[in-house]
Amino acid sequence: MIKGFVFDLDGVLTDTAEYHYLAWQELGGKMGIAFDRVFNEQLKGISRMDSLERILKYGNKSRAYTEDEKIALANEKNEDYKKLITNISPADLLPGISELLKELKAADIQLALASASKNGPIILKRLGIENLFDTIVDPACLTHGKPDPEIFIKGAEQLGLRPDECVGVEDAEAGIEAINAAGMFSVGVGSKESMKAADLFVTDTSELNVRDILTAAANWSHKEQKGSF
Ligand code: BG6
Ligand code: MG
Repeated sequence: MIKGFVFDLDGVLTDTAEYHYLAWQELGGKMGIAFDRVFNEQLKGISRMDSLERILKYGNKSRAYTEDEKIALANEKNEDYKKLITNISPADLLPGISELLKELKAADIQLALASASKNGPIILKRLGIENLFDTIVDPACLTHGKPDPEIFIKGAEQLGLRPDECVGVEDAEAGIEAINAAGMFSVGVGSKESMKAADLFVTDTSELNVRDILTAAANWSHKEQKGSF
């Protein structure tokens, strides 16, 4: 039985995935590395430093900077990003998210945040939804980033639940991979192509429906149990 939902933040609760893209593009411009939205899919869900490494590799510049310079570049991106998120307000919740979270709480389902972003807590606060979340996984405590399942396993653990008692919601391919590897029912938000590994997917957050998700997750866990015999 599903007792918890473990949410990604950027691109699921609010459209900050777009701001990450814009801030990386700005930095890419300064480093002489151009990339588009197709490449950007590979950055979703990936930590700040790992994203920088991927961009440098893409631009054949992996060895162009010292470790200290890379830290400075990542800080520069984060400063740009922080400017873009200054004015975030409850109006920036993606369509249907406010209703979804309230419906889940009303159904006594616990909520965890499993975002790779160190800006997660401040964004939840600005969105006015921090009180709806029972726990937030601190990405600084993790050994491995997504697609490793660690962050989702921790999310379930912090709720006092088993992964198979939780649903994970993601917009990143690496995130869906992480949820699946954690042994959780995965819900993807995005295109059919990028969300092909999700147990259930919607193209828009407005289509996320508690009853549909719980029904699909119940069928999934039934299948899982049968499969283990
Ligand atoms: C993830 C985003 O949620 O957080 C990534 O999908 C981002 O794009 C990562 O790089 C880290 O975020 P931050 O805010 O700590 O730089
Ligand atoms: Mg995301």
